[in-house]
Amino acid sequence: MRRTIIAANWKMNNLMKDAITFFSEFGDTALKSENEVIIAPAYPYIPLASALSKNRNIEIAAQDVYPKAEGAFTGMVGGKMLADIGVSAVIIGHSERRRIFGEALELIREKVKFVQENGLHLIFCVGETLPERENGSMFDVLKEQIYSAFDDNLTLAPEKITVAYEPVWAIGTGVTATPEQAVEMHAFIRKILKERYGYEDSRILYGGSVKPENIQGLLSHEDIDGALVGGASLKASSFMKLVNFQAVK
Ligand code: PGA
Repeated sequence: MRRTIIAANWKMNNLMKDAITFFSEFGDTALKSENEVIIAPAYPYIPLASALSKNRNIEIAAQDVYPKAEGAFTGMVGGKMLADIGVSAVIIGHSERRRIFGEALELIREKVKFVQENGLHLIFCVGETLPERENGSMFDVLKEQIYSAFDDNLTLAPEKITVAYEPVWAIGTGVTATPEQAVEMHAFIRKILKERYGYEDSRILYGGSVKPENIQGLLSHEDIDGALVGGASLKASSFMKLVNFQAVK
């Protein structure tokens, strides 16, 4: 059985006061839930989030990492720093990093390697744009994103490798992939993980406008092991509903 993950990606949102309010309202929600709960605040708030979520069964993630331990890399945050502030998971390859910051496949591959070398839980994002879906190339796009990052580059146990399928056209748009569209892509990713890498127990999350109103339709499917949530994770009231959701497969 793969344990369901409900992960929050706060992106460049939630100031200190918002984080304090969030964790005070969120309380022991994760302790009572059967789901694995991950929260990725912006870098400056990670120590605060770590402190406020202590002993509450919440894994604190970073939204990115620069793939070096330390050194002369102005503006970057490296691996030693993440370990130092209590981070245990890292999101890599988010479409906003790929598109807005021009992260190339080679850099993403290095980051995938680095996260594993540091024993951190890897949350690796893939997904196609709207034109790529419309011209039917979404399977090729996913293959390229996965092969370039994972071929001869997977070293951690399957439980520490999580893939998030996030169609770019569904992120922050309010448009969610239909459960059928998500299931098709998840099955495709599952097959690659199993046949190409021998990884059967990795989790595959769906991301893209997940909210309390649509989580049931998505997570009731066998191949959808959880959700990576942006907008609906910013306030404790809606994220709690997602964390409390009990998937019946
Ligand atoms: P969204 O973001 O839930 O706001 O669509 C998801 C993500 O980018 O991980």
